[in-house]
Amino acid sequence: MDSVLSHRAAQILGDAHRVVVFTGAGISAESGVPTFRDDLTGLWARFDAEQLATPEAFHADPDLVWGWYEWRRARVRRAEPNPGHLAITTIATQAPDSTVITQNVDDLHERAGTQAAIHLHGSLFAPRCVAAAHPATFPNPPDGEVAELPEGRRIPPPRCASCAALVRPGVVWFGEALPEAALTAAVQAAADCDVLLTVGTSGVVHPAAEIPRIAARAGAAVIQVNPEPTPLDPVATINLRGTAAQVLPALVTAAWETTDGN
Ligand code: OAD
Repeated sequence: MDSVLSHRAAQILGDAHRVVVFTGAGISAESGVPTFRDDLTGLWARFDAEQLATPEAFHADPDLVWGWYEWRRARVRRAEPNPGHLAITTIATQAPDSTVITQNVDDLHERAGTQAAIHLHGSLFAPRCVAAAHPATFPNPPDGEVAELPEGRRIPPPRCASCAALVRPGVVWFGEALPEAALTAAVQAAADCDVLLTVGTSGVVHPAAEIPRIAARAGAAVIQVNPEPTPLDPVATINLRGTAAQVLPALVTAAWETTDGN
């Protein structure tokens, strides 16, 4: 990685008061959770993720869609936060005013110690019924006994304890609106920040992909961390090519060393 660019990025980050960290599936890749577009491997490979993640798919075949989400949830429960998630928690403690916004439905930011991450696309751990959005609970096995579910397994969704409607995953599906309060808070934080750090997102799924663009339009510096070019490259003030677990710990260390040394 270019050391001049990373030094400049560290200075910008260390000097900032209001920092937004915006993450996508790439932040969890090094925890062993594949990115959305790489997700369908093995027996799931015969399905198209963008077709499984829809209300129409759940309506047509609830056992198939619930089985896919249960398989994903089991895999996330077996995963651990990586140094990228931990570095983001450090940013949240160092920057006086910071907000973490994620498109991910996993809980790895929380398990890394980040409080109150905004989940724009919902959560694998917040199921609700289809009729009245009554929250549902999972019959979870005790921690440490999370089985790896066989791929491709159909699982009937549970019924709501209040109204007996089917329970669905608490995620945002294609064609559905984002949770309004989360989107409003995210847009506000992006419009008000000094620096937005965008990590591990392809930046193609809207409206979430507007978040870095809103920050840039409002005059914030945008720092992107991604091993590959993305459509956000021209939006970013600085592009750091590398993985989250490689780039973020060094960036965070340098940011607050740089500031302390000033
Ligand atoms: P994508 O799967 O579209 O993109 C993942 C990005 O992470 C790519 O740009 C990769 O280059 C990058 N990446 C891969 N490994 C990385 C690593 N180790 N460190 C840093 N970056 C890495 O995932 P998202 O952009 O999150 O929405 O996708 C956005 C939304 O599209 C998802 O939330 C999901 C999907 O449709 C819904 O389900 C509504």
